[in-house]
Amino acid sequence: MERTNTERFMKNDTLLPLYNKDKPKSNPSNELPTAIPSHARRVYIETYGCQMNVSDSELMAGILTQNGHQTVPHLDDADVVLVNTCAIRENAETKVINRLVQLNHRKRRQPDLIIGVCGCMAQHLRDKLLDAAPYVDLVMGPDAYRDLPVALDSLARGVESHVSLTDRDPFVGLRLDKSEDYADIVPIRKEGIRAWLTIQRGCDKMCTFCIVPFVRGRERSLPLKFLVEDVEKLVDQGFKEVVLLGQTVNSYRDNGADFGDLLYAVGDVNGLERVRFTSPHPADATDSMIDAMASSPSVCKHLHLPLQSGSTEVLERMRRTYTAEAYRNLVSKLRERIPDIAITTDIIVGFCGETDAEFMETYQMMADIRYDSAFMFKYSEREGTLAHKVFPDDVPETVKGERLKQIIELQENISAAINRDTVGDTVAVLIEGESRRDADRYHGKTDGFKTAVFPKANTKIGDVVNVRVDTTTAHTLIGQTI
Ligand code: SAH
Ligand code: F3S
Repeated sequence: MERTNTERFMKNDTLLPLYNKDKPKSNPSNELPTAIPSHARRVYIETYGCQMNVSDSELMAGILTQNGHQTVPHLDDADVVLVNTCAIRENAETKVINRLVQLNHRKRRQPDLIIGVCGCMAQHLRDKLLDAAPYVDLVMGPDAYRDLPVALDSLARGVESHVSLTDRDPFVGLRLDKSEDYADIVPIRKEGIRAWLTIQRGCDKMCTFCIVPFVRGRERSLPLKFLVEDVEKLVDQGFKEVVLLGQTVNSYRDNGADFGDLLYAVGDVNGLERVRFTSPHPADATDSMIDAMASSPSVCKHLHLPLQSGSTEVLERMRRTYTAEAYRNLVSKLRERIPDIAITTDIIVGFCGETDAEFMETYQMMADIRYDSAFMFKYSEREGTLAHKVFPDDVPETVKGERLKQIIELQENISAAINRDTVGDTVAVLIEGESRRDADRYHGKTDGFKTAVFPKANTKIGDVVNVRVDTTTAHTLIGQTI
């Protein structure tokens, strides 16, 4: 008899975690009881969405390799493709659905190809995803990645016993687990200058527009001691900069330690040039965080501080827990304490019920604060959120589009003007790599996260060099090393 998707979820949701998380972390390579896979698979991981997803893909690569599988850099070499997905806006999900259609074409040529959908969209759409893409073999949410080796093994057995694709049950792992922090897993990162380090998973804030709490579960912080050890190891591996990641990084807590304590502790790690973090929540911007930013030399003076809306009424409907005035006061305080701080933000236009006047409050706030840069979005209704349940998505698409256009134009002008003001200044740049447009130049970031491009001269990747700014665009500083 045909099983419903719900039953399939129940069947696999009960799987137990593979590893003992209480094992000591001191020797990570020995921590995981290595389940020798009956089939070592070559896995290609494709990542969509935010940095947290990039970090999760590194974690998945860690879990797979420690269990005898191999990750490969090209889809052509793979017998498993894992698509790590984003659910934040509808277009993020549409992009993945289109990609799955392409992968299904490939599967017709390569019938043994296992297609897995992981991450936020897997958690969000659940059985709808399997209805829309019945050829998907594996659906796995962000707290279930320990089950990946078991999943690949059981799917491989299906392939081996020639069960036809249509008869094979997909493997589904969608439990959300407040205790899952993957603290014992060693992620596999690409070599480079900047490493992303997850310090917190989930979110407890429940902004009414946002799907994250539903797909990533409750907030949990990783132990400070482990994080400092991780950073020491990253420095040993040659990383110069670490970006601390979390949905509301600054609500970080470990026993008595708060986010400021973590910043100080990580900032003190020998050999680390720079520490950044993303994203803090305005309501959790404590003096402890501001003190650490002001006084720890390696903590970058850049704050990505999502505003969302400049209208207190809209912020209330969004349940952001701060007013427009409180946000303005916070920015004033930050600029007083840290005069050269770069501030960037996220904005949503066209949220439920947003009037012209409310939108203009956002526009005015952006004009007053003068952000260094901003990510700007049209509101996208997400099923399952409170906004979806209680507020109609009533701002017409054309109005959303028009409002977005207005703030993008405003922000481009502000970014260009702020950059123009740096002409003649000398800025410290951490070199990240060769410029894509010109092999004789390097690109890197300033402390304030602006891209700088300059001739290589006698410098190398990983150096921090002084660059005198000659010309600028809205997005780039162009100059010479001095
Ligand atoms: N706390 C996280 C937020 C992750 S989502 C962080 O700061 O990293 C990133 C941004 O996406 C949010 O700040 C918000 O501006 C935008 N966003 C979230 N849900 C959205 C939705 N339903 N429609 C449009 N934009 C959204
Ligand atoms: Fe989303 Fe608000 Fe948390 S934007 S990630 S619910 S802070």
